[in-house]
Amino acid sequence: MSSERTAAGKRIEALRRELREHDYRYYVLAQPEISDAEYDRLLKELADLEERYPEFRAPDSPTQRVGGAPTREFPSVRHAVPMLSLANTYGEEEVLEFDRRVRSGLKGEGIRYVCELKFDGIAVSLIYRTGMLTRGATRGDGDEGDDITENLKTIRSIPLRLRGANSGWNDVEVRGEVFMAREDFEKMNAERARVGEKTFVNPRNSTAGTLKLQDPKLVARRPLQFSAYYLRAENKNLKSHFENLQTLRDLGFPVSRHTQRRDNIREVIGYWREWENKRESLPYDIDGIVVKVDSLAQQKKLGAIAKSPRWAIAFKFAARKRETILRNILLQVGRVGTITPVADLEPVFVGGTTVSRATLHNEDYIKELDIRPGDVVIVEKGGDVIPKVSGVVREKRKHGSKPFRMPDRCPECGSKISRPRDEANYYCENTECPAQIKARIEHFAHRGAMDIEGLGEAVVDQLVSLGFIRNYADLYELQARREELLGLERWGQKSVQNLLDAIEESKKNPLARVLFALGIRHVGASMAQLLARSFTIEAVIKASREELEQIEGVGPEIAESIVRFFQDSHNRDIVRRLAKSGLRFKEEGRRRSRSSAVSEKTFVLTGTLSTMTREEAKGKIEALGGHVTSSVSKKTDYVVVGSDAGSKLEKAKALGVQTLEEEEFLKLLNR
Ligand code: IVH
Repeated sequence: MSSERTAAGKRIEALRRELREHDYRYYVLAQPEISDAEYDRLLKELADLEERYPEFRAPDSPTQRVGGAPTREFPSVRHAVPMLSLANTYGEEEVLEFDRRVRSGLKGEGIRYVCELKFDGIAVSLIYRTGMLTRGATRGDGDEGDDITENLKTIRSIPLRLRGANSGWNDVEVRGEVFMAREDFEKMNAERARVGEKTFVNPRNSTAGTLKLQDPKLVARRPLQFSAYYLRAENKNLKSHFENLQTLRDLGFPVSRHTQRRDNIREVIGYWREWENKRESLPYDIDGIVVKVDSLAQQKKLGAIAKSPRWAIAFKFAARKRETILRNILLQVGRVGTITPVADLEPVFVGGTTVSRATLHNEDYIKELDIRPGDVVIVEKGGDVIPKVSGVVREKRKHGSKPFRMPDRCPECGSKISRPRDEANYYCENTECPAQIKARIEHFAHRGAMDIEGLGEAVVDQLVSLGFIRNYADLYELQARREELLGLERWGQKSVQNLLDAIEESKKNPLARVLFALGIRHVGASMAQLLARSFTIEAVIKASREELEQIEGVGPEIAESIVRFFQDSHNRDIVRRLAKSGLRFKEEGRRRSRSSAVSEKTFVLTGTLSTMTREEAKGKIEALGGHVTSSVSKKTDYVVVGSDAGSKLEKAKALGVQTLEEEEFLKLLNR
């Protein structure tokens, strides 16, 4: 052998070792040491050398990832151990049931569970012989799958040879999920659209389609990733799934950093809740979690029924997106005359509830997405989000559908409607529009406002239509018309008395509730509390914009809206009548409300909390007399920091505002 060739052989070996190490740092440790350009330079040097000295070519060389020759058909291969699938569960009850079955199968033995993310991708099996990747296959029917070795070799996060493999790792099977990150998927789709190729529906379909390609060179160009979740090794005494995952990392496989071992099913449910809230923060899609019994001996004892193991289960999240038919676009008239388009949907189960109405925001939104009655639409519902129509499935549009047009008259009273400049909404200009009157009274009686039991939508509708009430001051004068009420359809002694009692009882509500119930634009429940703490109602009525803006949390828009409301003589008249009826217009014991560590304090919430939603946290703070605002300022007392907190945390640090971790926040609430 010439010395030149010997040197080339050595260099080739060194380059391969170096490239493998970089792959490992990049894909497993997520700590790359060199730039992509530098990596490509090393790879090119290796490829050139292998070109010059073909005798050194090797199937596990990093150069082999660019994709080999096309195949016409994938050979079928048999899995040594069947690839099972998981039973699905959707609710806590079913998961508790799973736990009971596991425990009864193990009769009092201690159990630990491993919680993993359930990747929304494609399961594959990888076989390593004497440390080298020799076969990669799809799951197929669980017993037999397709041999897609050449395609899988193009995935850079799948090691072509086991890391540090020497002693005894001869016969190894690794299973895991191939998937695509959302952003990579979108980039790829945009590029396909640009060159006129067909686009994929979602990352999972795109992954499945890619793995089926017969030309590995095409596969090599698609952004596929791999995450391992199963190890089988002959002649190794493996004991725990969780430990196997660590071994997989050591062998050079990417394994999710979010996998955790939990001591009981309650904690498993906690993990599920946490990820139900946080799933959006991941760069790829997950559709639930997978719960596995940790001990391999226990797994064996539990065994499998049909195609599913008894020792593992998929605990899925409710789909947050579903397709359904948009039956019609309704127009809802709100209490200040705002006309909001609402989707009337074929009922669909999404995000944990059945949805038949969803917001369409405003005219511009409908136009932008070109949403038409009769369309198949996508309905989305996140954790605490109101359902919304987020898109149209154009391919399913029926012939003859027409774009939506806003009418020029109020659907309720027929008066002209108009859209002020710089606003997205249309308004019905008739303040006596029955729909507005009803909406105002419904709001007034609502649980969060005056909480008048028995005064729901149907009753308000009846009383307004028959002319008994035209505004909420009329409610407190109903007492005098009890005989007339008794003559109405559906009303008897008892129901009339209950309603009148509930109205009477509502007079005891504190000022903050009254202020909220008035329905002043921009004055929500917590703003009403702020106002009530600072002013009596007479003072609010007389307050100038400037005086109102003195209150922390009151901006120019809110101040303007309050002033406008009380400038209206009709509103002033109603308020006067409410006062005469005996509603509370002064805050008793003002500023002496039960003081807690939270009361009177201003909070900003950022990031995701694991024990509650932000909406829940807000409710708790407000119940204790604190306020929640959306942006951090010097007047902010605390910034509550959940996981994946963003710029608000930085702002808090910059301004020296005290930050609270979730645990500290919980302590404060309980103090
Ligand atoms: S374990 C018996 N772990 O879910 C064990 N599967 O129905 C079965 N999946 O085909 C596989 N993430 O495509 C496992 N962390 C995870 C997973 C996972 C996603 C998929 C996989 C499998 C299906 C099971």
